[in-house]
Amino acid sequence: MVDLRKSLSVAEPEISRHLDEMHACGQYILGPQTREFEREFAAATGGVDAIGVGSGTAAIELCLRDAGIAATAESGAPCDVIVPGMTSMFTALAVVATGARIRVADVSPDTLLLTPESVERAWTPATRAVIAVHLYGQPCRLAELAALCQARGAVLIQDACQAHGATSQGFALTHYSPYCAYSFYPTKNLGCLGDGGAIVTPDPEVAERLRQWRDGGRRGDQICRLAGMNSRLDELQACYLRGLLPLLAGGNSHRRRLAARYRELLAPLPHLPAVGWDEDSVHHLLVVRSGRRDALRAYLGEFGVQTGVHYPVAIHQQPGLLPYASWAEKPAHAAAAAREVLSLPMGPHVTEEQVDQIAALLGAWA
Ligand SMILES: Cc1ncc(COP(=O)(O)O)c(C=O)c1O
Repeated sequence: MVDLRKSLSVAEPEISRHLDEMHACGQYILGPQTREFEREFAAATGGVDAIGVGSGTAAIELCLRDAGIAATAESGAPCDVIVPGMTSMFTALAVVATGARIRVADVSPDTLLLTPESVERAWTPATRAVIAVHLYGQPCRLAELAALCQARGAVLIQDACQAHGATSQGFALTHYSPYCAYSFYPTKNLGCLGDGGAIVTPDPEVAERLRQWRDGGRRGDQICRLAGMNSRLDELQACYLRGLLPLLAGGNSHRRRLAARYRELLAPLPHLPAVGWDEDSVHHLLVVRSGRRDALRAYLGEFGVQTGVHYPVAIHQQPGLLPYASWAEKPAHAAAAAREVLSLPMGPHVTEEQVDQIAALLGAWA
């Protein structure tokens, strides 16, 4: 499913150069490599600024904190944050970390994304924020979600942890809200060699505050002005990310070609529908559905084809999240997807020939 070796060998000269610079400088946290990467990543994603943090989960939590969600929850006022029923548990755990409650909204059966309609149905008088998760690399219907949040006085936070390089209807993701959270977990479209994350924002004031939030509330001194976190991108990871970032656009184009090939070859197999996407997707994952998912997975495994399941349990069914979660309508589409989704090989390391071979195996599967 993931093999970083090819990308790392292409990026090796750049990575080595940055590692040498880091050692010559001798600063290993919040130094010039992180600062340069922040500039480069903001430019690549259409933001004004980026803030490097410790993980994607921390990026979402920091956005929620900056939007006042933790302060509202700490004051004792009811505080709900809407999250989709189909996402990584870490989206929801960022909400729990702020003391707010998870309000689970169901997802579209076609794209498995939040929709403005599902968000409206989940809304409560205590809703203060909505986390739009661009699952599998496909951006949500952002213009409508942003308008809804604005009309109701809530904050829109984008979980773009699977959507590096994505735009929506011709605009950068930052066009739609001040908070776009990214993960650099090694499997992502842009990954590092450990944990890492970033927030991209179009707003310099938000950026300035987030720089304090991630570093104990400090401004490079020893004064704690905000009850912040300790969540900073390491210089070491920034060196790798600076080397790998120039490969992101090409990697995403390759993913688009593979997705088009999968689409063509899966079309005659109506019992294996692919989760829907449009031209804005950056295809972090290519996901099909089957009522016999586990048997299909075992079958592909016999031929050496690795697959994944993202995700086998819906958010409202995660045992550890239950005490913090509520919903209006049972998230039935999310629950059905959790039983059926199967992620096929996708990424810069996968060739079109391999897609042909996988499609042939799928076609032969009865
Ligand atoms: C949709 C989504 N949200 C949040 C996260 C959390 O990111 P991280 O693992 O960097 O904390 C991930 C990645 O695991 C993710 O895929």
